[in-house]
Amino acid sequence: MSVIDEVKQRTDIVEVASQYTTLTKTGRNFKGLCPFHSEKHPSFFIYPEQQSWHCFGACSTGGDVYSIVMKKEGTSFGEALRLLAQRAGVTIPTRAKPGADKEKNERLYQANEAAAGYFHHLLVNSPAGKRARNYVAQRGLSTKSISDFQLGFSPNSWDALKKYLMERGYSESELVAVGLVIEAESGGSHDRFRNRLMFPIRDIRGRTTGFGARALDDSMPKYTNSPETPVFDKSSCLYGIDTAREAIRQQDRAVIVEGYTDTITAHQNGFSNVIASMGTAITDKQISILKKLTWNTVFALDADTAGEEATLRGVSYENTLGAEVKVIILPQGKDPDEVIKESPENWQHLLDEAVPIIDYTFNRVVSQLDLNTARDKSTAVDRLLPITTEVKDVVRQAHYLQKLAHLVGVSERRLEMVIEKNKSSQVRARFRAAKEPEAATGARQPLLANPLEEYCLALMLQYPELKAHSEELLPEYFENSENREIFNTFRQTKDVNKVKDEIDNAIWEHLDYLMTKNLPSNQIEEKLSSCILRLRERFLRSLELKKGAILASEAETGGTPAELTKLEEQGIDVSVQLREVFIQRSRRGQKQRREG
Ligand code: CTP
Ligand code: MN
Repeated sequence: MSVIDEVKQRTDIVEVASQYTTLTKTGRNFKGLCPFHSEKHPSFFIYPEQQSWHCFGACSTGGDVYSIVMKKEGTSFGEALRLLAQRAGVTIPTRAKPGADKEKNERLYQANEAAAGYFHHLLVNSPAGKRARNYVAQRGLSTKSISDFQLGFSPNSWDALKKYLMERGYSESELVAVGLVIEAESGGSHDRFRNRLMFPIRDIRGRTTGFGARALDDSMPKYTNSPETPVFDKSSCLYGIDTAREAIRQQDRAVIVEGYTDTITAHQNGFSNVIASMGTAITDKQISILKKLTWNTVFALDADTAGEEATLRGVSYENTLGAEVKVIILPQGKDPDEVIKESPENWQHLLDEAVPIIDYTFNRVVSQLDLNTARDKSTAVDRLLPITTEVKDVVRQAHYLQKLAHLVGVSERRLEMVIEKNKSSQVRARFRAAKEPEAATGARQPLLANPLEEYCLALMLQYPELKAHSEELLPEYFENSENREIFNTFRQTKDVNKVKDEIDNAIWEHLDYLMTKNLPSNQIEEKLSSCILRLRERFLRSLELKKGAILASEAETGGTPAELTKLEEQGIDVSVQLREVFIQRSRRGQKQRREG
């Protein structure tokens, strides 16, 4: 989750808006005199469920909590972010000046690259690398794999790499910063990796960020890895991602294993969509990288820990990914490297039989119970209902609710009653702890990626010739604050390359993602136009809903006839605009059909 989302999640828009105007409740929403223009009757509404606001009066605009603060305090997005972050107790990672930082990191990547080349050369050619060569041969790694993954050998020396790189212009402090060299307490420094098989770790763009290094025998530790450096963050690494990315995209599926050798053996046997989490439970950061390539992932889980992993993290993986996650369970005591080497067919068979992670948990729980007994039925509900209610996707949630009801032989209605009961006790608990930010955030929707907005922005950013189309969009079409801010900056900046200079650095990562997002290369203008229409339709529909909610609650609580009429008139305006969108869309549809 970006810091922008985190601040938003930890902030209550009602509280913030209350600082600027007096709010009263109307149905599930709040109304007040608009803080941005002077008026006698409230036309400013807050929608807590969407954490958004809209002024149906003179402003005729809306947004999220950031735009309230920006408008009211007259600040930039970055300043509003900092104000709200402080209020919510969220620390914003500070960054040094962009240019300087980038150049420095560039040097670190280059140092890693040079080291990888050096190690690789030693493994392939040098007499010193003979033992390591034997080792990889004995592990069954092919020449092609060694070259594809640029495997290497770090010589048994305290300063061979250091000397090699310093001769090529890298300073000792750079080599320490990138983790290739260790500073000793006595003051000297020496190579970190000695007498090991080297696995360069590359990011999705193919830059070498760090190394994994395996002992050539049973000595401990089996692996040493690069430490955290400005370019190496273990929690966001996916080993093999650069080699696997095309296959993942093409097959629209990624298979996640644990280790370096598992990944390489998989690729060597034609399973090119395999990547490794590097021995740890997968993190949100890794998932967000993966999500840009595919929504379909299969985890290869260890027989011993599979149950725990699936129960604890399964649904949360799914919700972060926004898609179903499948698992395969490895045969007892084996890792994918061994399974694949033994029989690629068996591995393929396992993949074919992959089951959704929730089904796996269901099967596992059920296999331990006797569902003829009342006690075990109740245990099944205790264990499986919480997982089921966590599923965000409504249809899938209904599916598992049905499945559970069927398993224990009670009606779904009854299970729903249990859910309601649990919820109300949770709500009570939340009220008691209302001052704690965590408790307040629990109620809110997660801010998932907004693919339509991102697609639209990425098209305009990457194809400058489409820029004129930005005139057809309103900032309000972008629900996600980062997207809206990028759109606003883009509109004002003539040169796409300047956008990054203009925009707050909290948004850089997201901007980079949009600028490098893979896009289709044909009929882009068509695609953008249709995307804009869809955004407009979505915006108008949501406006219609918001207005509908207000009309209903106002009519009930006795708003004045004049106010109601005014709102209704604007409602008509929205319907007219929506009808126009439909007409345009159907025209386009006809045109496309004609063109075949
Ligand atoms: N790992 C690590 N540090 C360790 C042990 C493991 O970083 N001390 C990570 C590595 O990415 C490793 C993965 O966890 O690849 C899985 O560990 P393990 O199964 O022990 O190693 P394998 O990759 O199977 O290595 P090998 O087959 O060579 O024994
Ligand atoms: Mn192994």
